[in-house]
Amino acid sequence: MTSTTSEAVYLDHAATTPLAAEAVEAMGPWITAGAVGNASSLHAAGRRARAAVEDARDRVAAALGVTPLEVLFTSGGTEADNQAIKGLVWAGGAGGHVVTTAIEHHAVLETVEWLRDHQGVKATVVGVDADGLVDPDEVLAAVQPDTRVVSVMAANNELGTIQPLDVLGPALAERGVPLHVDAVQAFGKVPMPLGEWQPAGLALSAHKFNGPTGVGVLVLRRDLQPHPVLHGGAQERGVRSGTLNVAGIVGLGAAAERAADLLSTVDTAVRARRDALLDGLLAIDDVALNGHPQQRLPHNAHVGIGGVDAESLLMGLDRAGIQCSTGSACQSGAARRSHVLDAIGAREDAAHLRFTLGSETTDAHIDRTIVAVTDAVARLRTATGDR
Ligand SMILES: Cc1ncc(COP(=O)(O)O)c(C=O)c1O
Repeated sequence: MTSTTSEAVYLDHAATTPLAAEAVEAMGPWITAGAVGNASSLHAAGRRARAAVEDARDRVAAALGVTPLEVLFTSGGTEADNQAIKGLVWAGGAGGHVVTTAIEHHAVLETVEWLRDHQGVKATVVGVDADGLVDPDEVLAAVQPDTRVVSVMAANNELGTIQPLDVLGPALAERGVPLHVDAVQAFGKVPMPLGEWQPAGLALSAHKFNGPTGVGVLVLRRDLQPHPVLHGGAQERGVRSGTLNVAGIVGLGAAAERAADLLSTVDTAVRARRDALLDGLLAIDDVALNGHPQQRLPHNAHVGIGGVDAESLLMGLDRAGIQCSTGSACQSGAARRSHVLDAIGAREDAAHLRFTLGSETTDAHIDRTIVAVTDAVARLRTATGDR
């Protein structure tokens, strides 16, 4: 029996991340008793709130290399994806066509399926290879004269596979086809050359980069005016109505700045720990890497472990104080196998586990995880008489 050790090892940063001290500090004045300020009010309290929001907008713009005008605040990644896709489709009137990929987050896939099933919009869902990589030529071949948006994620939330937007972005821009990028998992993990990708829209979510939950960003090209999803007071360039979440936005701004500053740390220290974790996991019998071996997020280790049940392994690891995931958090609780694993044709007789590291992950955490996984797998295989 594995002892339940003191401190839990949190290796589920793709699900959500711990709030950064910088974000807490920035939010402080906006979440204390008596804090007041609607960023649309003209009096001093309103102007203070507006200044804080605009400062956050500047920080996000600087972190992304875009202009502040292109940064719209939303309630998170899901809203940013919905707004970009529905908004660009609706802006063209009835009908139209959308292209996306089989491994997108539900925020994109369900949106596209809803447009198809309830709005008479044509949809093409392009498949991926066994590593979860999209072929840019296949995406380009799917484009039709009435394609209103192509939605391709920067990096996959489960496998960590990074998509070739450096090829796809310029090719779509040349054809004048708007590209929406779900960059929720990529931001703060890998550089995002937006000048090269030339996206029409791009979604971020603060809680994935050590900011607060319930706040995100839609980066929207200046010349575009998608149809709003939310109607109301016409805030945020008339695209996203609703009183601005000042505390959340301020926290997001600080977290975005921190994430941009930490990019090189993620690329070196976090990547080295991830590689050490992978080495340890792959040393176990019948364990294989899922996702692309090189084109992958530096904090993601996703493996298929033969002959064990995923839920039993996950719960065993949880008891040992190791927190990881069998898929995306949005699906946990649902018995259905992830659509991403289906899309890459992952083995059905294996437990597929995702470990995602953060900047606070230590070498000791990695050592403990390797021992815990090795022990738990051995125990489960013995229990089932498998090996
Ligand atoms: C790739 C991707 N897109 C969108 C989302 C949704 O973001 P939010 O939780 O901010 O709604 C997630 C969250 O898991 C994600 O991983």
